[in-house]
Amino acid sequence: MNHEKNLAENIDELNRQKNIIRQLRIKYDEEYKKTGKHKTYVVKTYGCQMNAHDSEKLQGIMEEIGYHPAEKEQNADFVIYNTCCVRENAEQKVLGNLGSLKPYKEKNPNFKIAICGCMMQEEHILKKIKEKYNHVDIIFGTFNLYKFPELLQTHLETGEMIIDIWNEHQDIVEDLPSIRKDSFKASVNIMYGCNNFCSYCIVPYVRGRERSRLPEEIIAEIKALVQDGVKEIMLLGQNVNSYGKTLENGYTFPSLLEDIAKIKGLERIRFMTSHPKDLSDELIDVMKQYDNICKHLHLPMQSGSTRILKQMNRKYTKEHYLQLVEKIRLAMPDISLTTDIIVGFPGETEEDFKETLDVVEKVKFNGAFTFLYSKRTGTPAATIKNQVSEEIAKKRFNQLLNLLDPLIYENNLKQKEQIVKVLVEESNQQDPTSLTGRSDKNHLVHFKGDPSLIGQIVPVKITEVKTYYLLGEKVNE
Ligand code: 5AD
Ligand code: SF4
Repeated sequence: MNHEKNLAENIDELNRQKNIIRQLRIKYDEEYKKTGKHKTYVVKTYGCQMNAHDSEKLQGIMEEIGYHPAEKEQNADFVIYNTCCVRENAEQKVLGNLGSLKPYKEKNPNFKIAICGCMMQEEHILKKIKEKYNHVDIIFGTFNLYKFPELLQTHLETGEMIIDIWNEHQDIVEDLPSIRKDSFKASVNIMYGCNNFCSYCIVPYVRGRERSRLPEEIIAEIKALVQDGVKEIMLLGQNVNSYGKTLENGYTFPSLLEDIAKIKGLERIRFMTSHPKDLSDELIDVMKQYDNICKHLHLPMQSGSTRILKQMNRKYTKEHYLQLVEKIRLAMPDISLTTDIIVGFPGETEEDFKETLDVVEKVKFNGAFTFLYSKRTGTPAATIKNQVSEEIAKKRFNQLLNLLDPLIYENNLKQKEQIVKVLVEESNQQDPTSLTGRSDKNHLVHFKGDPSLIGQIVPVKITEVKTYYLLGEKVNE
């Protein structure tokens, strides 16, 4: 009952926003009739795939209102920054770029700036923007993105700076227009928020508590995408392995993945991110069983030291991580494993760091995102006394890369002479006769071919390998 009521309220809310979009469109068209000039927009995205997906919704809204995409902020009438606060340098970049928009605003008062996303959920950042960046027109957060049409309308009517930040989610409102960058692949959120509170991470504070979308909604969305020609779906969640915990019907991520794998015409399924602490045997079984589930797993280890993992509140040990990898590789020997590693977590000693190097050597990852620890105000790790000096952290970071890169290259060598299936994504910008795509195992592959192949899955024989990409030749089926 309660659920039905929520659903009805969500539909009402959605219709309200859609109505506002229509009203804004009428205004836009009237203005266009007078000026004969289309207005343009840019959405600039910082951070993760979740943000990239939110940006698609913002782009969809802008285009339904009538705006056309612009290449650069300088040439646009409307700029939206969708921000990330996972690491401090991303924040600095946003503030720097925001500052550099000020002269455009001074020259052209009709130039509009909106800023949203994770950074806006941080009180000290919001305060800073209100005080020092008052050339911004609209500010909103991660929980109310769907209200953007209303915020925009209010701003256009009043001319005032509009700020709307919620501290927690209310309902999940989906189905606003969205622009997919590619016609052949799409991302689908299966859940929002995170309950894990890793001690270094700000995500649980800015994205709120974990909540799963209903399976029937997810499956309907994917079926519609497949009908629309989508070949590859990326399922998104901060920790997909805890999908379903808020649904209370025993339906888990493996159940969802299996139901999605059965959708006719869906050629490839990817998902991220998997927390090692609750990756189940059922998930391994389902992955193994279905050919259309890509044999690639992103499994962030963060550190190889059990002591540091405990401080990070990751809830697994070095041994557990290694056993898990062994189990996964036993079931799927050629799976591609990638990871995230943080270097310089507070209190990390040389011994701890050696443990990280040890896991890297043992696992021989196929790829890794490496990060220097970044102190995030409000997280437990920020208050730990013995922070690692920048000099030591950087030294370890380079040491880690020096170990990782040759191992990744060596792993890539196994792909040589193999025929891999590549979903062709784009022409190579430097060389238009070359195409770029991703293999099932998520390798970036370049090969010669005609742009008409973009969006198709084609067999490519790998002829040469590098650390970060593979080169090949298209072969016949
Ligand atoms: N400092 C450095 N890296 C971080 N990550 C998350 N928070 C921090 C932080 N404070 C990294 C983790 C996570 C990835 C998305 O970002 O490795 O898996
Ligand atoms: Fe952050 Fe940990 Fe949640 Fe990932 S699982 S979003 S690292 S708190």
